[in-house]
Amino acid sequence: MDPKIAKADKKIQDMNERKRKKDSSDRKVGSEIFDKSTLETLYKLANQGYIDVLNGAISTGKEANVLKGIEKNDNIVAVKIYRIATSDFKKMNYYIDGDPRFNVKTKNKRQIIYNWVSKELKNLTRLYNAGVNVPKPITHSNNVLIMEFIGDDEGNPSNTVKNQPPKDPESFFNQLLVELKLFVNDAKLVHGDLSNFNILNHNEKPVIIDVSQSVVLDNPIAKELFERDVNTLVNEYKRLGVETSFDEVYEYVNPHFS
Ligand SMILES: Nc1ncnc2c1ncn2[C@@H]1O[C@H](COP(=O)(O)OP(=O)(O)O)[C@@H](O)[C@H]1O
Ligand SMILES: [Mg+2]
Repeated sequence: MDPKIAKADKKIQDMNERKRKKDSSDRKVGSEIFDKSTLETLYKLANQGYIDVLNGAISTGKEANVLKGIEKNDNIVAVKIYRIATSDFKKMNYYIDGDPRFNVKTKNKRQIIYNWVSKELKNLTRLYNAGVNVPKPITHSNNVLIMEFIGDDEGNPSNTVKNQPPKDPESFFNQLLVELKLFVNDAKLVHGDLSNFNILNHNEKPVIIDVSQSVVLDNPIAKELFERDVNTLVNEYKRLGVETSFDEVYEYVNPHFS
């Protein structure tokens, strides 16, 4: 066995062991992202060659952890792992209802998360193919999604715009509007949670992330979500000194809802 794989294997075994000693439930804080089924999923992805080792946390959010993964060729990827125990199923169902791509009705919590992750990968793929500046999708399995790592060659992730406002807000905002127009008119999706928390400042260029809740334009909630997104952006960029308005952005994007 490849020594790195063996190392990852040993790590997973150790984690499993620790987990067994603690408790068999998913609910334990600390080890909660590494419940048995998540470990198995990571192990499977490692065997398929997607990740060689997991190497450090990028972010610990409410529902998901984003970690750095290293591929065999030393390329860095971002690994987003949804925690089964702390995911908001009500929200997930709200966004999945009305999406013709996901007419599966289930009450199984694990299955709802798996659908959610599959939706995030589908959205990311659709956006990437439409030329929107998003991380390149790589693969997903169960509650784990793997995508391009947005950061520098040393492995430092790019900051969110919230944490690192652009040097030239006006020019950044204009770039963002071009992305938004492609997002809505070419990928035909509405982000649904668009704010400077979900936009990375990658060398002064916007990269849009976190598209699990994004919905297709025919979704009955699309218009309302789009208007909310535009309001949020307009407020945030006004605060950064950009002169803009809801109407200006709306007219520029000119979305066609069914
Ligand atoms: N592809 C990526 N490359 C680098 N950092 C990322 C990437 N995806 C997410 N991150 C980091 O992880 C954080 C959380 O990711 P996000 O998809 O917004 O999940 P959530 O908000 O649901 O926790 C982001 O704010 C960003 O700092
Ligand atoms: Mg986010």
